[in-house]
Amino acid sequence: MSTDDLARVREEFLAALQSAGSEPEAVEAVRVRFAGRRSGLLRQLEETLKSLPKEEKPAFGKALNELKRFVEERLAAAQEAAAKGAAAAETVDVTLPGRRPPAGSLHPVTLVRREVEEIFLRMGYSVADGPEVEDDWHNFEALNIPPDHPARDDQDTFYLPGRLLLRTHTSPVQIRTMEQQRPPIRVIIPGRVYRRDSDLRHSPMFHQVEGLVVDEGITFAHLKATLEAFLKVLFDSRLAVRLRPGFFPFTEPSAEVDITCIMCAGKGCPLCTGSGWIEILGAGMVDPRVFAACGVDPQRYTGFAFGCGLDRVALLKYSLPDLRLLFSGDERLLRQFEGVRR
Ligand code: PHE
Repeated sequence: MSTDDLARVREEFLAALQSAGSEPEAVEAVRVRFAGRRSGLLRQLEETLKSLPKEEKPAFGKALNELKRFVEERLAAAQEAAAKGAAAAETVDVTLPGRRPPAGSLHPVTLVRREVEEIFLRMGYSVADGPEVEDDWHNFEALNIPPDHPARDDQDTFYLPGRLLLRTHTSPVQIRTMEQQRPPIRVIIPGRVYRRDSDLRHSPMFHQVEGLVVDEGITFAHLKATLEAFLKVLFDSRLAVRLRPGFFPFTEPSAEVDITCIMCAGKGCPLCTGSGWIEILGAGMVDPRVFAACGVDPQRYTGFAFGCGLDRVALLKYSLPDLRLLFSGDERLLRQFEGVRR
């Protein structure tokens, strides 16, 4: 080992640094190789120094110190250049497309509600609204639901302090509408309703849309034609609509309304339990006692009303297997409706 060897190390170092350029990882590799604390070349040369004969030590030591200083300086400069290069590489490329913030989506029930609203707005209806916290009069009494009616059972209704309750259907808004405006009336009333019920097909909160038409000369034929038009636009123009006799305290006569099963087109399948029909809403002619409760003259006016579960419509339209999915807040469901607008 001599000072000539140190000169060669110096050349090697310069060559390595040159080829590393301003690449941060390559500069770091050069640092480890030459100035690494444990086994860098300079460290090894220090060991060599210790084992040299006494008379060679001063010259070699001096040259080694110079080499160390030289390496340190060059490395520092190369590291600085590499850091600057890395920073420059991080600058914004303005030609890249921006990151899109997630747009969210409309809930399937919202989509169905808006679609129903549109259909009826086109038929000249307006959209009405009422409170979800109701009193006994609007939810029951004025709708001709006597105190012993099963719909009043504790099992079905959420009662609140102060003789209030969560409305069990949207029908109380029929009453509120007739209390506030004179016929002719043509309204639909979408909204949340509440019942003490929870299983695969029932949720304690669900959605209905109510329809109410009151005028002179309104007949059952108007009801039937309106519902047929509505259901054909909502589902499928080819479907058939069937009315079965039904019972509601606030309509007389009353009907349960079915459509041909949208899965099997009436052939019979698990969805319609083999019948070929799916029950979709309840309807009827406004009972004269309801008119009387609202101060509408039953001699002069007739009317029809209907109520339809919006959640069920959403399940059918979008082929969803379980009502509870609608209220789970599961993004995997909601993401499928991204970009769907109404
Ligand atoms: N309110 C009834 C229900 O919740 C539905 C309905 C509304 C029936 C209007 C007839 C007329 O089941």
